[in-house]
Amino acid sequence: MTNLTEPYIDALLGQMTLNEKIGQLNQYNGSDRLDTDLIRQGKAGSLLNADGPLTGQGQSDSGSAEQRNYYQRIALESRLKIPLIFGRDVIHGYRTVFPIPLGQAAAFNPGLTEQAAAVAAKEASADGFKWAFSPMIDIARDPRWGRVAEGSGEDPYLASILAASAVRGMQGDDMAQPDRIVACAKHFVGYGAAEGGRDYEGGEISEPTLRDIYLPPYESAVKAGVGTIMSAFIDLNGTPVTAERRLLTGVLRGEWGFEGFVVSDWASVAELVQHGVAEDRARAAALALHAGVDMDMVSKAYLETLAASVRTGSVPVEEIDEAVRRILRIKQRAGLFDRPFTDPTRYTTEVLTPESRQIARQFARESMVLLKNRNDILPLHGFRRIMVTGNYVHARGEMFGTWSPDGRAENVTPLDQALKEAAPKDTELWFVPETDAAMKAAQRVDAVVIVLGEHPSRSGENANVSSLLLPPGQAELVDAMVNTGKPVVLVVFAGRPLAIMHQVSQVDAVLYAWHPGIEGGPALGDILFGAYSPSGRLPITFPRATGQVPIYYNHKNPGRPINSEQGFHSRYIDLQSSPLFPFGFGLGYTTFRYANLTLSSQALRGKVEVCAEVTNTGGRAGKELVQLYVRDLVGSLTRPVRELKGFQQVEIQPGETRRVSFIINEEMLAFTRGDGTKGIEPGCFHVWIAPDSSSGLRGEFEI
Ligand code: NOJ
Repeated sequence: MTNLTEPYIDALLGQMTLNEKIGQLNQYNGSDRLDTDLIRQGKAGSLLNADGPLTGQGQSDSGSAEQRNYYQRIALESRLKIPLIFGRDVIHGYRTVFPIPLGQAAAFNPGLTEQAAAVAAKEASADGFKWAFSPMIDIARDPRWGRVAEGSGEDPYLASILAASAVRGMQGDDMAQPDRIVACAKHFVGYGAAEGGRDYEGGEISEPTLRDIYLPPYESAVKAGVGTIMSAFIDLNGTPVTAERRLLTGVLRGEWGFEGFVVSDWASVAELVQHGVAEDRARAAALALHAGVDMDMVSKAYLETLAASVRTGSVPVEEIDEAVRRILRIKQRAGLFDRPFTDPTRYTTEVLTPESRQIARQFARESMVLLKNRNDILPLHGFRRIMVTGNYVHARGEMFGTWSPDGRAENVTPLDQALKEAAPKDTELWFVPETDAAMKAAQRVDAVVIVLGEHPSRSGENANVSSLLLPPGQAELVDAMVNTGKPVVLVVFAGRPLAIMHQVSQVDAVLYAWHPGIEGGPALGDILFGAYSPSGRLPITFPRATGQVPIYYNHKNPGRPINSEQGFHSRYIDLQSSPLFPFGFGLGYTTFRYANLTLSSQALRGKVEVCAEVTNTGGRAGKELVQLYVRDLVGSLTRPVRELKGFQQVEIQPGETRRVSFIINEEMLAFTRGDGTKGIEPGCFHVWIAPDSSSGLRGEFEI
């Protein structure tokens, strides 16, 4: 229960009937078929999407602020005139579509994450939305799961930093400002642990792993002031999270002091019946409300059952009051009581501006990861005639990736055109998407670029795969091109790490482009022709084969570790144990040497400073992502073999040496110990300053 004094909300709550209170807890999917009388009667707290007859008719062309204003006018005709809050899935941009979140994470650039989120907030709010169901901050260790595309990958430290950046970008210092919106961190919690990578399946996560791996991004979002949290669909350790009071109330509110409201995921309140923890919708509603779910997304179980449950005494009205209070609090902080409507003219000037597109281009460039570059074939130079082949040759909307309902393909420069614009004048580009034609044409060109990968619908919600190999037919295209004997550059567009071990061995260069968004084509041109030296790094481990997943860098050591002397040890008999590419890995167009690791002291007293020198040993300037890892050698519970604790992106000129330093303090080394408490344990630690999670310079200190 909150200690906040909120006279305005108290007064409002005091006037509300039970039905009006329950109305606030209810979110509808707005559409042509929505019965607007429900809004007028105060039976709606929020609309999701909120399309309707006016959508696309007004000044704003993609969804229409007028449509949202129309619903809002109806809400203000209700007895207590409580405004609606309009929510939407604004996951990686609105009209300006940025790289998918997994690609954004590869940029390791919190500032850019914040800028992009601010652009998304400005555009969505100009279209009448005051609430975005993002950031998605679920840790994912299994790329078969389609929603790996929507998060920041496998590392809790990186995900926590980016979660806070996204929240700040959307909400700003004051979410009541017209160009800011309320963020929603989702899907609390453990959603990424879906068994077998099958979306909606449950997971078993031990308490220490939950606390040290899956919860930190949420705590970070709460510290950054996130207004709302969405509960996960899944069954976690035997309790569907939507019914899990220990987490939704105990951890979120009790331990972290979260003051905002929790919304269920789509119909997940009613789905408690399918989970088998509630015999009917009334019980499901009672369980979810008691657990701490304040708003029911679309299932109507609250709307239809709570009043009767209050009357029979199975739901205390105080629980309803508390949920209403939290929702009204966020509506008030979002400024909806003072400014319920959106000025529709904003849309014509604030959406898809040249500045937003510039941020999108920079983000797309920084998200792409160069995985291989034999003989420095990239950037492309000295080739007079280059053929571009593969299913992405003419790509436009395909570059958006999952969750881009407001992006428009016609706003994307087609990939072929973008590459033509980027190529030097004396380079001839041939675009030949079909394999047979490409095989013939290959004879007459000097190099081949293959642009292939996953269609956006192959990743995202419920788009899970059982095989991480390239989609059917694509490996054959690579074989055919490699057989021509020409130098081959492979560009992969995808929503997940794919198992491309064979292709990596075949071709000269591999650039992993994810789904890069609206400026994907120009950004790719910048990289292929050398205007930008790749700086992206993998935010998730790349497996050699599907059977290797889950595979992640911050794993524990078994008693018989990988590569140990002992004959029987952790391994596959048919596959090398190491990943294809480790977390944190990525190349650029120059090289760096790490040297002279020093520690300010061999013993950590309060803090210790770790430094190393990084020299650009190549021929051009470049950005290096310098990473800090630690390992706690002995613990009351087993500890990860490495944990990321810091990173810095440094721009270094050819021949220049930069001293990079990190501070390690005790708080950074705290973990969930054997007795369940969080803290440090004395002993010896290893520390690395490293270019990725599998290499680097190592030092030691003690606590
Ligand atoms: C279900 C998804 O799991 C969630 O991420 C999304 O925000 C809601 N649907 C609303 O579309």
